[in-house]
Amino acid sequence: MDEAKIKVVIIDDSYDTVNNVKRLLELCDGQIEVAGTAFGGKEGIKLCQKVKPDIVLMDINMPDMDGLAATNILTCSIPDLGVIIMSVQSEKEYLKKAMFSGAREYLVKPFSADELISSIIQTYEIQNKRKHNFKLLNQVIQTKVITVFSTKGGVGKTTIATNLAVALARNTKKRVCLLDLDLQFGDVAVMMNLSVKNTIYDLVKDLNNVDSDLVNDYLCTHFSGVSVLPAPLKPEYAEFIDSKHIEKILALLNGHFHYVIIDVPANFQDVVLTSLDNSEKILVVSTLDLPAIKNIRVGLNLMENLRYKEKIQVILNKANEQYGVNCSEFEETVGYPVWVIIPEDSNTVITSANKGIPFVMSRVDTRVARSVIRLAGKIHDNNLEPAAEKRSLWKIFQF
Ligand SMILES: Nc1ncnc2c1ncn2[C@@H]1O[C@H](COP(=O)(O)OP(=O)(O)OP(=O)(O)O)[C@@H](O)[C@H]1O
Ligand SMILES: [Mg+2]
Repeated sequence: MDEAKIKVVIIDDSYDTVNNVKRLLELCDGQIEVAGTAFGGKEGIKLCQKVKPDIVLMDINMPDMDGLAATNILTCSIPDLGVIIMSVQSEKEYLKKAMFSGAREYLVKPFSADELISSIIQTYEIQNKRKHNFKLLNQVIQTKVITVFSTKGGVGKTTIATNLAVALARNTKKRVCLLDLDLQFGDVAVMMNLSVKNTIYDLVKDLNNVDSDLVNDYLCTHFSGVSVLPAPLKPEYAEFIDSKHIEKILALLNGHFHYVIIDVPANFQDVVLTSLDNSEKILVVSTLDLPAIKNIRVGLNLMENLRYKEKIQVILNKANEQYGVNCSEFEETVGYPVWVIIPEDSNTVITSANKGIPFVMSRVDTRVARSVIRLAGKIHDNNLEPAAEKRSLWKIFQF
């Protein structure tokens, strides 16, 4: 532990408790310093803003502002602060409320000097560690957000998003989060065969009480290492999630992951636009059938008006030379070069989706897997490729 003294503020409306606690703290060989005392929530907040303590010992029931409300305000405004609740209530319900208000520890009155001092030291050490880890993460991790989008459903967004996330995690050893923003019918969890404990709906319900450390508890970990935030389990839950929630979730993930890959539905609704706004790159997926080509053209026009042009990379999926439209014709029609071509391979794609194992893990040697791994490589290198070469579709079978 740091040699510096731990600065403690005591907030309790009972004069006796304040004095007793003060006395107990004097027993700890000068390791802890009482920086001030206050007899109510409001007074306590003012005091903390002034003396900037490391630890606050907080009573719950106080006349002007109760301890939980004061804790909430303090922990939101001074994130490094560790609040320890002191209460005569030992019921689980109180403990839960205390944790939701941002408290780190809960002491049931009466407590001994040993209990009090070890709680203070432990809370202080945990807060210090969190501060240190947070600084490290923020120094090291620059989060890149990538949305996999299309203007027509069923073109392979989820297939690409899941396999891309896994390829990035496995081949670059970076921290990858996959976010399923297809809020009504998201199928990322199914495609990855995840047993879902929490979804984005649970996170949104608790969002006011979740900080960037706690967000991890809402993510499912796939055995490839990818952290997944699945879509709600029921389509009707989608209406409880709006763009403000998405912005907050992305802010929480920022700094924790090198890559956040987002799977979205084929529309321009608010949640999708928020995802596109926050993305560094937008992978616009199309196939070679005429309705898809028509839609992507219209969609790309709209995206240009929304000033997304610089972020767009077009991905051609389910490519097959027998479809009567080749890659050059496609590029000419849509007015964008194709960044990566992913061949059609129903056998590999559907088999791995049904088994719940992404093909970039189970069928690495197939062309379709190699093309997604190549896509991951391009994203990772951040290599804005030299001007797109003209390619004919049959060339896809050469890599
Ligand atoms: N390269 C491919 N080769 C063959 N089949 C593919 C390929 N990519 C995707 N598919 C198949 O296309 C279908 C749609 O894929 P997917 O669900 O990934 O598309 P989507 O764009 O996410 O659809 P939605 O808009 O409904 O969310 C699936 O049956 C999938 O197996
Ligand atoms: Mg999908």
